[in-house]
Amino acid sequence: MKKTVPDLLEMKRNGKRVSMLTCYDYSTARIIDGAGIDTILVGDSLGMTMQGYANTLPVTMDEMVIYARSVVRGTEKTFVIADMPFMSYQASVEQAVLNAGRLIKETGAQAVKLEGGAGVREHIRAIVGSGIPVCAHIGMTPQSCNIMGGFKVQGKDEINAERIIGDAFAVQEAGAFMCVLECVPPKLAALITGKVNMVTIGIGAGAGCDGQVLVYQDMLQMSGDFKPKFSKHFANIGTAMGEAFTKYNMEVKSGTFPEESHSFVKSDCSDKFYAAMNDKYR
Ligand code: KIV
Repeated sequence: MKKTVPDLLEMKRNGKRVSMLTCYDYSTARIIDGAGIDTILVGDSLGMTMQGYANTLPVTMDEMVIYARSVVRGTEKTFVIADMPFMSYQASVEQAVLNAGRLIKETGAQAVKLEGGAGVREHIRAIVGSGIPVCAHIGMTPQSCNIMGGFKVQGKDEINAERIIGDAFAVQEAGAFMCVLECVPPKLAALITGKVNMVTIGIGAGAGCDGQVLVYQDMLQMSGDFKPKFSKHFANIGTAMGEAFTKYNMEVKSGTFPEESHSFVKSDCSDKFYAAMNDKYR
């Protein structure tokens, strides 16, 4: 049985922490699901991790649908949230509802995520009003990187900290059941978490949130030496993959792979047949 919105809200009420990882493909989704992770975010971070862009802005709705659909097929229990990409909701409330609906209908995801606080209150209200659960995203919002001057910690001074508190109340009032708090001081994230009924998910926001999210390539060290301050290397899969690819390359070139055990040796063709074929096709 898949986890549900009520299950996640109950975890918050009971003080149980919620785990979340990003994911963008079927086979990784199966591994994450098998590991018992509560929620997957098919983040528009795929623009950087899967497509090699410098930021998330180029990601399209069509791309989100393809990635999210593959992830949903790989999950049995894990709750899946699909991210709304840049310019799929900002222009109007109507556009937001239609694109949120498309993500749910065409991917099977259970909720959508969109960035912004008080400014997207009406968009959230309308999406939730259509029956679609919304995860909000406040603090450092990567789709606004050109306004923020890059990926910078938010809410460090009192005016901005209070603005972010206001954003949290605004998205909750509009109906969001969950809210990502990205790159804000831990005290601010803990204060918000204690004041709202939504499930707060931190990334670079300290341990005082209801749950945590990491980008899986960062935590598996698949991004070379790149490690955001807030991430942690839980394994070195990047090096393990590099070593395996190097070994494969060497074995193909030296002829040691494949061995007989990797081949389909059984056949109804006789040695006489192969000898005849050899003569025929000189
Ligand atoms: O797109 C994404 O993966 C995200 C998370 C980092 C929160 O928004």
